Amino acid sequence: MKALVIESYQSNLIRAMQGIRLAETTMPEVGENEILVKVEMAPVNPSDIAFLRGGYQIKKSLPAVPGFEGTGLIERVGKNLQQNLAGKRVSFFAQGDSGSWAEYAVIGLSDFIEVNEKIPPEQAACLFVNPFTAYALVNHIIENGHTALIQSAAMGQIGQFIRFFAKLNNLKVINLVRKETHIDLLRNEGAQYVLNINHPNFADDLKHVACETRTTAALDAVGGELTGKILNSMPDGSEVILYGGLSGLSVGQIDPLEVIFKNKVLRGFNLGDWLNNLSTKEFSEISSEIQQLFVQQNLATRIQQVFSLENFYTGLRSYISDMSNGKILFSMSQKY
Ligand SMILES: NC(=O)c1ccc[n+]([C@@H]2O[C@H](COP(=O)([O-])OP(=O)(O)OC[C@H]3O[C@@H](n4cnc5c(N)ncnc54)[C@H](OP(=O)(O)O)[C@@H]3O)[C@@H](O)[C@H]2O)c1
Repeated sequence: MKALVIESYQSNLIRAMQGIRLAETTMPEVGENEILVKVEMAPVNPSDIAFLRGGYQIKKSLPAVPGFEGTGLIERVGKNLQQNLAGKRVSFFAQGDSGSWAEYAVIGLSDFIEVNEKIPPEQAACLFVNPFTAYALVNHIIENGHTALIQSAAMGQIGQFIRFFAKLNNLKVINLVRKETHIDLLRNEGAQYVLNINHPNFADDLKHVACETRTTAALDAVGGELTGKILNSMPDGSEVILYGGLSGLSVGQIDPLEVIFKNKVLRGFNLGDWLNNLSTKEFSEISSEIQQLFVQQNLATRIQQVFSLENFYTGLRSYISDMSNGKILFSMSQKY
C-alpha cells in the first residue's frame, strides 16, 4: 500500500517534515479484535505534528506511518468481531502502530465509530478526536458547577466546538487568542469576551474579566507561561484543565501562593482516558448526539484544503502556517 512514512523523530519541525517520504509499504496485519480500514481521508492535527517531532505521548516503532485520525470503509474484520461490520464507513482513532496517513489502517475494537451516512467524508475524517474532546471538557465544566470558562487557542477547531457546547449550556466564555485579527473575527461571530495573550495588559485584563464574570474554570491547550498567567488571574478555588501543549514549553509562572492559599488546582485531560471510563451505552449515546449535530450542520470542522498523499509537504506547510484557518486533509483517492 501507499503510505507516508518516517524513519526517525526530528525535534526540528522543518527537518521533521522533510523526513517524511511517500513509500510503498506492506499492508498491516489484522488482529482478532481489529478491523482493516481502507482509508479515504485523514486530517493533520497538532498531535500529529508533536508526534513527528518525538514530543507526543504515543511513540510508534520506526519506521512508522503517522496520523492518528481518519475515515474510511471497513475492508476486513477480525475474527472475534461482528462480520457484518464489513463495508461500513467509520471514523477512527489510530492509537496503535498503524497510522492514518496511508491507504489502509488497522484499528482496535474501541477506537472506531460507525458514521452516519449523511456526514460527508471530510467531516467524518475529523469526527472522533476534537468533537468528543470539546464535549468532554464542557461536560466537566458543567459537572463541576462552573458557570463560565476561559479557553486558550480559541480560534482552533476545539475552540469553536467549546464555544458551541458552552452556548448550548448557557456558559460564558472568555476566549484567548494570540493575533489581533482573531479578536475581530471572534467578536463578529458574537463572542463577548476575547483577549490577546500578547497584549501588555493581558494578565490584568484577564483578572478583571475573570473576576467580573466569576469564571472559576479554564481550558488551556497552550501550556508554558500562559498556564501560570491564567491560573494566577483567576478567582479563589479555580481550576485550570490543561489538555494541550501547543507552546511546546513546560508550564511556568504559577505563583505558589495562589495554589497554597487560594485553593487553585491544575489538572490534565486526555481523551483516551475519558473514553475508557465510559460504558458502551454512554459512549453510543454521546456518539449519536454528536453525530446528529454534524448531520444538522450545527457542528462542522473548518477545512482549509484537501491534498493527495503526493502533495503532503505543501499540505503540512499550509496547515502549520495558518492553523486557525482550519484542518488540511490527506485524501487517498486519485481525485486530488
Ligand atoms: N488532551 C486531549 O485528549 C486532546 C484531544 C484533542 C486535541 N487536543 C489538543 O487540543 C489542542 C487544539 O487542537 P485543535 O485541533 O483545536 O487545533 P487547531 O484547530 O489546529 O488550532 C490550533 C490553534 O492553536 C493556536 N496556537 C498554536 N500554537 C499556539 C501557541 N504557541 N500559543 C497560542 N496559541 C497557539 C492556533 O492559533 P494561531 O492561528 O495563532 O497559530 C490555532 O488557533 C492541541 O494542543 C491538541 O493537541 C488534546
